[in-house]
Amino acid sequence: MFDLTDKHIAITGASSGFGHHFAGVLGNAGARLSLGARRTDKVDDRVAELRELGAQAIGAALDVRSAESIQLFLQAAEDAFGPIDVLINNAGVEAGAKTYVTIDEADWDFVLDTNLKGSWLTSKHYTERVVSNQQSCGNIINISSITDTRTIKGQFPYAVSKGALTRMTQVMALEAAKYNIRVNALAPGYILTDVSRLLLESEQSPEFEKGIPMRRYGEFEDLDGPLLLLASDASRYMTGSIVVVDGGHICASL
Ligand SMILES: NC(=O)c1ccc[n+]([C@@H]2O[C@H](COP(=O)([O-])OP(=O)(O)OC[C@H]3O[C@@H](n4cnc5c(N)ncnc54)[C@H](OP(=O)(O)O)[C@@H]3O)[C@@H](O)[C@H]2O)c1
Repeated sequence: MFDLTDKHIAITGASSGFGHHFAGVLGNAGARLSLGARRTDKVDDRVAELRELGAQAIGAALDVRSAESIQLFLQAAEDAFGPIDVLINNAGVEAGAKTYVTIDEADWDFVLDTNLKGSWLTSKHYTERVVSNQQSCGNIINISSITDTRTIKGQFPYAVSKGALTRMTQVMALEAAKYNIRVNALAPGYILTDVSRLLLESEQSPEFEKGIPMRRYGEFEDLDGPLLLLASDASRYMTGSIVVVDGGHICASL
């Protein structure tokens, strides 16, 4: 049920963190992978590792803030492995520990253009290709975050972008069903990567961690099962779902 043999999966932001890890999990389950990010040296390194492990993978430059770059990435992916079965909108950035007062317009544009507009634009161009390729179905997974609902001070505009990304997932699910495209989101809690480093390596981190009912931050591997669920036919009747993986963090009041 969770087998991905010969499924073609495109991952944005695959040069580090989650995207880098997801590629290994999905390749292990049989998927053919197209990886995109701005740091092409890191993407190329990951592609080489995946090939050594026996997976089929290609890498291409991608800046999700540019429609042209997205089209070139999707084309490179299709040239390599044909129509894309699953798109994972994973590319994301944060602006540091700032509030709505201390960010400037450049911070707002950087975060919103990457996390929200980039996910929309990539989904739009992916959907157009599903239609023009006459694919029988498609699958979009947005990597949101529990900051979409459970926010602390200093996460502006990151939390705003994730709140909107979660909502976008639901609205897109409604509109994408006519193309037989499912749209779901994975909403992880806190896991140490460059996006979360500032908070997780700060002085208040041990206290913050105690607020998680399971009393620990997440690990990459905690996402593997939910990721395979959403990427595979095991979730064939799921669309518009937000799959939270956070050790109970959003249930906690502090
Ligand atoms: N870590 C957490 O606790 C956590 C929790 C919930 C959700 N998330 C989400 O998980 C996703 C992955 O983040 P991460 O934690 O794995 O951090 P990360 O290691 O910094 O990964 C972010 C990835 O996004 C890519 N990226 C950034 N801007 C891009 C752009 N304009 N075009 C294409 N790729 C771009 C980066 O690659 P390049 O720099 O090479 O372009 C990098 O591969 C993000 O959406 C993040 O918000 C993270």
